[in-house]
Amino acid sequence: MKIGIIGAGAIAQAVAKLGREAGHEVMLSNSRGGPTLAEAAAATGARAGSAAEAAAFGELVLVAIPLHRIADLPAGLLAGKTVIDANNYYPERDGRIAALEEGRITTSALVASHLDGAQVVKAFNAILARELNGAGTRLPGGAQRALPVAGDHPSAKAAVIRLMVEFGFGAVDAGPLSESWRFERARPVYCVPLAEEPLREGLAATTRDSWVPEGSWR
Ligand SMILES: NC(=O)c1ccc[n+]([C@@H]2O[C@H](COP(=O)([O-])OP(=O)(O)OC[C@H]3O[C@@H](n4cnc5c(N)ncnc54)[C@H](OP(=O)(O)O)[C@@H]3O)[C@@H](O)[C@H]2O)c1
Repeated sequence: MKIGIIGAGAIAQAVAKLGREAGHEVMLSNSRGGPTLAEAAAATGARAGSAAEAAAFGELVLVAIPLHRIADLPAGLLAGKTVIDANNYYPERDGRIAALEEGRITTSALVASHLDGAQVVKAFNAILARELNGAGTRLPGGAQRALPVAGDHPSAKAAVIRLMVEFGFGAVDAGPLSESWRFERARPVYCVPLAEEPLREGLAATTRDSWVPEGSWR
């Protein structure tokens, strides 16, 4: 499969490496091009391109850039594509977004509302980039780590779950994008290594008032 990636930072490179190891073709991109992108491509075995080239290249496209930079992307860039949204909301980086603060929208619904016609699946946001590798698929004791996924388009979500499983992770379907707040930043399961059943239970037990201290997951 061809995987396009918008972004060439920590998450983008981790997914690029896993994609290459699983035998996929991968193209990374960033907004600056040049040496920064060449280094990321060399480190991962991916090709390098512009965001528009990565969008066109990918049968599946990962968007892994700071949330506040999503607005830089042309609205129609990913129309018709299955898009993995790995982004999280960090107010100190992204600026305060009232609709998120007040729980009126999820980060992925915000991303989807900008990317006209894209089939957005939230995934790979609730794991630290340094754990997104073969070793990170196992918990102490050897059980398989599972990751949450959410989306409104069953076939797009199924494609992303297949990729997760190829990478060695289990997957827990948290439902539609409107439920994805359950694994956003500072929710109890956010970036916590869990096996499938505890993750499923943790997602179900999360309420709108369930928060963990800022940064406790790092
Ligand atoms: N790091 C983690 O452990 C982690 C875990 C889960 C989720 N996340 C989330 O995933 C997203 C990416 O995080 P990260 O840690 O990978 O970020 P990062 O290391 O800071 O990398 C961000 C990348 O986005 C690129 N970028 C910025 N604006 C762009 C644009 N308009 N078009 C194309 N590329 C653009 C940057 O390159 P240029 O500036 O050169 O364009 C850079 O390569 C964030 O929303 C973050 O919250 C991060």
